[in-house]
This record gives sequence, structure tokens and C-alpha cells, in this order.
Amino acid sequence: MSERTGAPILDVRGLVAGYGDTMVVRDLDLSVDAGRTVVLIGPNGHGKTTLLRAVSGLIKPAGGEVWFGGERIDGRNPEYIVAMGLVHVMQGDGLFAQMTVEENLLMAAFPSASWRARQPALERVYALFPQLKERRGQRARTLSGGERRLVALGRGLMREARLLLIDEPSLGLAPVMIDTVYGAIREIRERLDNAILLVEENFTHIADVADVVHVVEMGGIVRSGSLEELSTDRTVVETYLGTL
Ligand SMILES: Nc1ncnc2c1ncn2[C@@H]1O[C@H](COP(=O)(O)OP(=O)(O)O)[C@@H](O)[C@H]1O
Ligand SMILES: [Mg+2]
Repeated sequence: MSERTGAPILDVRGLVAGYGDTMVVRDLDLSVDAGRTVVLIGPNGHGKTTLLRAVSGLIKPAGGEVWFGGERIDGRNPEYIVAMGLVHVMQGDGLFAQMTVEENLLMAAFPSASWRARQPALERVYALFPQLKERRGQRARTLSGGERRLVALGRGLMREARLLLIDEPSLGLAPVMIDTVYGAIREIRERLDNAILLVEENFTHIADVADVVHVVEMGGIVRSGSLEELSTDRTVVETYLGTL
């Protein structure tokens, strides 16, 4: 695991974001230190995905600032931001169903890179997730839900990420598949030195991965702490299942 540097890799200040006149992220402050995993927990519809979209440039923030690696990035386009090493693994799989595992991975590398130049990235992903190498020639539509989610994470890792945004990796998966996906996230955490900003609806799966947890409600952070600290907060535990 990498050492921490002084300044956070991601610094979000007073962020406001939404759709049309409706703001769903409201004056939100958040920072992520290099090499750390920060988890956002919160109910459906409270602005978690919108926050990630505003950070990765998929939507333009209506207010506030986003700093990444010491550079201000709000207002930048998503391709510029991803090239800086801020990679967004979106909610759902977003795979090309008719393409193979390997084609899906290769498509996620830099668009300008030649097929050959993409090989080192491919080998890096296969070294981390050998299951994907075994299934390299299999079409995405024939994979299990857990395997598809693994390919989605692998696609994120085809870019050199300093920060990986991962949106609800457990969504819609059977428990055994969720274990597979979280095994993969633990591998990323232990073997790569990027920071991770992870979103989930509750505490169920994050016990081994969270350095810091923030509870998001109504587009703002209402509680923060380590998992241990939040697990002694009765309101939080009762609201978010208490399934620690
Ligand atoms: N593309 C969109 N256009 C309009 N409203 C949206 C869009 N995406 C999300 N919303 C609304 O923004 C709010 C927050 O959504 P979202 O950020 O997806 O929440 P979460 O990820 O916490 O479930 C919800 O009320 C949702 O309906
Ligand atoms: Mg969401």
C-alpha cells in the first residue's frame, strides 16, 4: 500500500450538481487521500451517482470546485479527466454484449493507443484477475453477473488510475457473486496503489475495504468516520441495516 502524501488526491469543495433546475448534490465537501479507500453509503436517489458523475466530468457541476492531483478539474471534459488518471467504473456493467472479454478490455484502453500498445495494460489486468484471462475469448453476454462486474472493473484498470470511482459494484448481484466482486476490489486495494472512492447503499459488504466512510443523505455528507466509529452510532446502524 502506498504511503500517504500531504495533500489529498481528490478535493471536492462546496460541490453543487443536478439536472436542470433540480440540484441533487448540495454544497458537498469531500476529500480522498492518495492510496486510500473512501466509501460513500446512502439510500437510493440521494445523489451518490450524480456526485461521481460531477467528479469525473460526465455532468458539469453547477457550483463548487473539484481538485484532482492539485489541478482544478471541474468544467474539464471526461476524456481529459480520465487521461489524468481519474477513472469512473459506472453503475451497471456497460459491456459490449457481443464482444469477448478481451475485446471489452481492449476497448477501454486509450482510444489512440494501438492494439499492441494496449498489451501491457491487458497483462496487468489479467495478472490481477486471472479469471478474466481464462475467459478472454468468451462473449460478455454469456458471463455470469459477477464475471461481468469483474470485466467492468478490469476495464477501469486498463487506464492507469490514480483514483478509481466505483459505483455500487454489488448492485443486482447474488451474494456469492458479490463476494467475487469484493474479492477483486480487495485485490485492487492490496496490489495497486491507487485511491478508491466507492459507493454502496449500505454497510453489508465494505467491512474489509473502507478506510473512511461517509454517509450521504439528500445530496450532502451527514456523518463520517471509520467503519468502527460509525458502527457505534445507533442512528446510522439502525438506518443502514446494522449488518456489520
Ligand atoms: N439523468 C438524470 N436526469 C434527471 N434526474 C436524474 C438523472 N439521474 C438521476 N436523477 C435524479 O437525481 C436524484 C439522485 O440520483 P442519483 O444520483 O442517481 O442517486 P443515487 O446514486 O444516490 O441513487 C434522483 O432523484 C434521480 O431521480
Ligand atoms: Mg446510484
